[in-house]
Amino acid sequence: MVKTAKLVIDGRSYELPIVTGSEGEMAIDISGLRKNTGLITLDPGYANTGSCESNITFMDGEKGILRYRGIPVEQLAEHSTFVETAYLLINDELPTRKDLTRFSVMLNDHSLVHEDMRAFFENFPKRAHPMGILSSMVNALRAFYPELRERTDEEEINITFARLLSKVRTLAAMSYKISLGHKVVYPSHKLSYCANFLNMMFDSPVRPYIIDQELVKALEVFWILHADHEQNCSTAAVRLVGSARVNLYAAISAGISALWGPLHGGANQAVVEMLKGISDSGGDPAPFLSRARDKNDPFRLMGFGHRVYKTYDPRARIMKKTCNKILKTLKRKDPLLDVAWRLEEAAVKDPYFIDHNLYPNVDFYSGIVLRAIGIPLDMFTVMFAIGRLPGWISQWKESIEDPKWKLHRPRQIYLGSREKNYIPIEDRGKDPTSKPRS
Ligand code: SDX
Repeated sequence: MVKTAKLVIDGRSYELPIVTGSEGEMAIDISGLRKNTGLITLDPGYANTGSCESNITFMDGEKGILRYRGIPVEQLAEHSTFVETAYLLINDELPTRKDLTRFSVMLNDHSLVHEDMRAFFENFPKRAHPMGILSSMVNALRAFYPELRERTDEEEINITFARLLSKVRTLAAMSYKISLGHKVVYPSHKLSYCANFLNMMFDSPVRPYIIDQELVKALEVFWILHADHEQNCSTAAVRLVGSARVNLYAAISAGISALWGPLHGGANQAVVEMLKGISDSGGDPAPFLSRARDKNDPFRLMGFGHRVYKTYDPRARIMKKTCNKILKTLKRKDPLLDVAWRLEEAAVKDPYFIDHNLYPNVDFYSGIVLRAIGIPLDMFTVMFAIGRLPGWISQWKESIEDPKWKLHRPRQIYLGSREKNYIPIEDRGKDPTSKPRS
């Protein structure tokens, strides 16, 4: 096993340790580089830079593998529930029946939102985007609940995690009801996590919501597939903000803000808008593919491509199956699914997409599942955020427990002006060769 890498600078050689992961992936440890050589590395977007060592999620971008705590996501999507998967990610083991009951009771006990928070909702402009509301409300939770101190006991830590997992789901449904001007539906102790969410979203005094177990299962799968994804943009944001030892709510709020971006979690909403655009322009994907290939056109094919997966995103495969299953159950067709199929069929044969290893990612089919469940388009990324919460929590927990923990503070290479003097305002804008007063 290779143990070190040799770096030669100005004829001087340095040995850098090589770290090997449990699946054989290797990294050059540069934590002593600047001290030993005076140089730093440069890697815009961190495509080649590992920020941490982690035990939570393993991805193999070439083989399209995704495992949470070693368990393939395919098995979890088939056999597990979102609550059980959340427990697995946070605690690094599948719960016993007793553990699961205890965790579910804790989620139920902390599912209500402080009544004073309703005033916050009522004062948001009606057109406010649900992701902006969610990020603000999660940050606001700190005003109502204690933050975790370094010596907080295990019970309080678990309650804080359960509080976030449960209240974020309630906040999302509340936000939707209030945006409609409808009566808020409270969580029920009789319903599971996912069924509770659907009931809070769609139950009404004039039209009771009938829980369809097929839709509940589709939502379980949707949230399991989104639960974690190693050091993606929003998780990296949670770790970076969390590294300043800020409270968990603020760190999670930062993750929600990062996820909002259309290049990240906001892509699920952008995919449906793109599919609608293709459908409205007659259904032919070719013009959109040619725009995606055009370097002078900022348009990108939403739901395609990935920083890590250079093959089919394993989650997209499962999501595609879930689309078919849920529409069959509902005996419904979604014209956008036909558009998505046609687009995928054309793209995977297109040399540009083949050369750039661009395949469908998790966001390409997920919007079709959400449409079938009845989730409004502007809440699609909120659904992603609820799913990703266990991942953010587990990654935050791992980072603050890491003995190698450090404040995240990247370096830079400066390309700006060399030293120059201040010019009093009366001398500015004159002949540039005029010497400023020193
Ligand atoms: C998520 O990181 C995660 O794990 C994220 C996520 C998670 O679970 O947390 O998986 C969730 O964010 C999925 C991705 C959702 N975003 C989209 O679907 C938006 C569309 N996709 C892209 O913009 C893009 O593919 C990214 C942002 C996802 C990844 O881009 P990279 O790795 O930064 O690659 P890049 O932008 O440097 O592109 C490399 C090349 C470029 O062409 P060249 O200049 O090299 O010729 O590929 C091209 C890009 O122009 N390219 C695309 C494209 N994606 C990349 N061209 C057209 N359409 C696209 N979708």
